[in-house]
Amino acid sequence: MDGLVYRGVKASLELAKLDRPKIRDGEVLMTMQAAALNHRDVWIAKGLYPNLREGIVLGSDGVGTADGGVYIINPNQEWGLQEAYSGPGYTILGMPNHGTFATYLAVPRHRIVEKPSHISTEEAAALPLAGLTAYRALFKKCQLSANEKVLITGIGGGVALFACQFALAKGAQVWVTSGSAQKIDQAKLLGASGGAIYKETDWDRDLKKNIGGFDVIIDGAAGPGFAKLISLARPGARIALYGGTAGEIKQVSPQKIFWKQLQILGSTMGSDKDFSEMVAFVSEYKIRPVIDATFTLSSWQSAFERMDRSEQFGKIVLTLD
Ligand SMILES: NC(=O)c1ccc[n+]([C@@H]2O[C@H](COP(=O)([O-])OP(=O)(O)OC[C@H]3O[C@@H](n4cnc5c(N)ncnc54)[C@H](OP(=O)(O)O)[C@@H]3O)[C@@H](O)[C@H]2O)c1
Repeated sequence: MDGLVYRGVKASLELAKLDRPKIRDGEVLMTMQAAALNHRDVWIAKGLYPNLREGIVLGSDGVGTADGGVYIINPNQEWGLQEAYSGPGYTILGMPNHGTFATYLAVPRHRIVEKPSHISTEEAAALPLAGLTAYRALFKKCQLSANEKVLITGIGGGVALFACQFALAKGAQVWVTSGSAQKIDQAKLLGASGGAIYKETDWDRDLKKNIGGFDVIIDGAAGPGFAKLISLARPGARIALYGGTAGEIKQVSPQKIFWKQLQILGSTMGSDKDFSEMVAFVSEYKIRPVIDATFTLSSWQSAFERMDRSEQFGKIVLTLD
């Protein structure tokens, strides 16, 4: 079988011929149909991720067939007993254990969930990791209610777009930031009210003037722009932080945080309960994941480059069959 393997910091990734996995007790052998990239895969390819193991097949998102059914895979491994945080044995599919960028994968039977019937195979492949992260950040951490005002940063990203779709489905009003005016227009077509280009120096000024402030902010960038998010938060606002694409947080005013009684909430992935709820939410509201582009496994390099350059609007999918 074919699989995209991590070969070490210098060699990066290689599309290799591998032995078909042997299944152990409680596992099914899935014939993989499609997988999707997450920024995690790009960090791994660059050697910028903890606990890297050479020879591992990458990929956290995937859909495949087994026993006559079509299933998506829950990328959580050993979340643990607490809903509030993952336990010490927690890992994510696709490092340090073999992941979905391969034509076959052995998966514990309790990790697979039937594909929602309203979405295609490619759309289903796009859902698991980013959908789970967005769901927990919005609903479990920020406790989003209908009619609240939400700001989502970097809308071209996979998690950000799910957060946008989920918040709109819940009846919230959504604004976005992006490095590209075109992506803000694409978000408006999905139902967002407007946005700002984070590459401009005073990108927060018009949002502040026109909207006043946000009840909920979902951020995966951090970096120097985070200070502006604190200014854009309304009194009592909740800010969920799930990523650090733009680096360290600097020059944040402590006074603004405590005077406004802000809650800054770290969020990573989600529990297995969150995963089941997220898939049910997607089915109930007939949400269709946004696919940016689809590549074959042999064109994996183009897919990784597209994500690395932040060119995407939505998920980048690899077809495997
Ligand atoms: N904690 C978790 O469980 C978890 C889960 C998934 C992802 N993450 C992390 O969250 C981040 C996003 O992941 P992803 O898979 O959604 O990535 P992605 O699809 O590659 O999206 C990254 C997006 O970040 C935006 N961006 C880049 N620089 C920015 C800046 N200075 N300010 C605001 N936005 C900026 C870009 O948006 P535009 O294209 O609109 O400019 C880009 O499309 C990554 O750092 C990833 O490691 C964490």
